[in-house]
Amino acid sequence: MDYLSIYRRSLENPDEFWADAASQLEWSKPWDKVLDESAAPFYEWFAGGEINTCYNALDRHCDEGRAEQAALIYDSPVTGQVKTYSYAQLRDEVAVFANALQNHGVDKGDRVIIYMPMIPQAAIAMLACARIGAIHSVVFGGFAAKELATRVVDASPKLVISASCGIEGKKVIPYLPLLDEALELAGVPDLPRILVSRPQLPLENPHPSAVDWEDAVTQAHAVDCVPVSATDPLYILYTSGTTGEPKGVVRPNGGHAVALKWTMQNIYNVKPGDVYWAASDIGWVVGHSYIVYAPLLHGCTTILYEGKPVGTPDAGAFWRVIAQHKVNCLFTAPTAFRAIRREDSAGSLLKEHDISSLRALFLAGERCDPDTLNWAEEQLKVPVIDHWWQTESGWPMAANPTGIELMPVKAGSPTLAVPGYDIRVLDDDGNEVQRGQSGYIMVKLPLPPGNLSTLWGNQQRFREAYLTRFEGYYLTGDAGVMDEEGYLWVMSRIDDVINVAGHRLSTGALEEALASNADVAECAVIGVYDKLKGEMPLGFVVLNSGSNVNVEELKKSLVQVVRTQVGPIATPRDIHIVPRLPKTRSGKILRGTMRNIADGKQYKTPATIEDPTVLNEIADVLDVGKGG
Ligand code: COA
Ligand code: AMP
Repeated sequence: MDYLSIYRRSLENPDEFWADAASQLEWSKPWDKVLDESAAPFYEWFAGGEINTCYNALDRHCDEGRAEQAALIYDSPVTGQVKTYSYAQLRDEVAVFANALQNHGVDKGDRVIIYMPMIPQAAIAMLACARIGAIHSVVFGGFAAKELATRVVDASPKLVISASCGIEGKKVIPYLPLLDEALELAGVPDLPRILVSRPQLPLENPHPSAVDWEDAVTQAHAVDCVPVSATDPLYILYTSGTTGEPKGVVRPNGGHAVALKWTMQNIYNVKPGDVYWAASDIGWVVGHSYIVYAPLLHGCTTILYEGKPVGTPDAGAFWRVIAQHKVNCLFTAPTAFRAIRREDSAGSLLKEHDISSLRALFLAGERCDPDTLNWAEEQLKVPVIDHWWQTESGWPMAANPTGIELMPVKAGSPTLAVPGYDIRVLDDDGNEVQRGQSGYIMVKLPLPPGNLSTLWGNQQRFREAYLTRFEGYYLTGDAGVMDEEGYLWVMSRIDDVINVAGHRLSTGALEEALASNADVAECAVIGVYDKLKGEMPLGFVVLNSGSNVNVEELKKSLVQVVRTQVGPIATPRDIHIVPRLPKTRSGKILRGTMRNIADGKQYKTPATIEDPTVLNEIADVLDVGKGG
């Protein structure tokens, strides 16, 4: 069948469409209703059904002849290790660790925070939670103590799983000082923790409530999967919103498994037994969906890569991994390719490896500039597919559905709406704009299975953040255009969220960090164009009157405060001291206009501005032309 017929069927007959997809999984109890609309705008998929995600990801394949097939390959250039787990081995390790969780009081519905580097135990911990119906919440290892603490407070976990250190290139990053500080800040300093002791930094005198991972598993035995309700949460994943307060995206078990399994064939065009590599981090949604769950649900081999695109040891690292493990499908962020190109634009390192197993490259996480896409295509000589999605959706909303029909690529566009997503572009009044005009990118409700069902413990915030802008639609937070042929062009965010190297950050969180300095009266953070990372944070600070600090010292300490409060991934490119910030008459900071000035773009002086001359001051500080 062609894309258009399948797309239409998904919207015209969603019950039948998603019931077909769901029949590809094992259910312990069939659903009563495919889509329950009784509480709209809150929808439930597969209500009444019972399933276990871990069973479908591991045990099922062992029972169906894949026990000896590689399920997960841990490839770690930073430690010089490659370790393969067959489906049977992974199932056994997960089954035992699941019991270790139970021995630490974790039960169905309890939350477990996973703050870990890219090691197999991270995936084992996630799957073990799924096995017993516990809800995991993975926190990216690059977040600092305060960010971790906020998530601990919100999720109120029974247990934390962590490791002695992460390894970033050649640096060993101790995790435990951050973890201990976060648990202090969260008011739960004695929260039980299970810790992996890594040889690069063996555990020494850990907190009294900590248990070594090895000891925890020695005292445990394998346990079976516990069926859970399809609508029960599999995980909470916190993502940045407009404020500094992250949003706990809740992912229900049933819809998630159905949607992810469906994407493997239809979007990524991979078959069970294929080797699939998402070069991301388990701390992000891409890592949840496409390092851990989707490849395993589909019976593929997944790669867990502890390294970088460059520097571990060089810009040929990706080609080495593809060749060594015969990767069929690669998924990463455009930033990774920009980094490789910067170091090896002629692709000479590529010639040292046989990457003929590779059939396609998928890019997401940030806007993909046509230049990067074209370069990747020239080098790899396989289709390069930009696709668009977000933490909330958990899987692509717009993509080139290569497993259904490879549509012509238009560089700069993530192609067409994926089946299940009724994407519309609306104007300020909620009317659909004409094709080719820009507006808010919205999805007509109901969202397909696998999307967030709510925000953890905050249904009201879920409604306000996503469902009230235009009734009957989900607000993606992105603005863009749909062209005459239905191709989507994602242009910008409508909020103060910025995207640094494919990592979504809230300017609010960075501003909170800057404002914590006693000399700072007011501040604003914007995301400015960056050739490598897409965007980088840039801070503007107004000092308290009479403040008499050494400006260079202050700038350094402000950069440091962001690194220690938010994390090193949020390191600002620079901090500018300014006399005032441009504001509307109602006091709203004009971040969009500041951004245009910083990027050297033409801008219009907003009619609502309190004092237009402030814009010239900003341009002077940035040493760019004045375009108002
Ligand atoms: N734990 C601890 N620290 C981390 C970390 C982690 N998991 N991840 C990043 N950091 C630190 C880095 O060590 C660095 O610290 P430094 O400022 O002290 O050197 C800082 O955070 C910034 O890291 P990063 O954003 O990775 O920048 P970089 O300059 O080290 O590397 C790239 C640049 C392009 C190689 C890197 O950003 C990259 O691999 N990008 C791909 C993005 C990606 O996979 N996104 C996932 C979404 S699909
Ligand atoms: P995250 O939730 O961290 O995955 O970030 C999601 C946001 O990243 C989206 O809302 C977009 O703003 C941006 N994004 C992700 N993929 C793309 C893409 N292919 N093109 C443009 N923007 C993207």
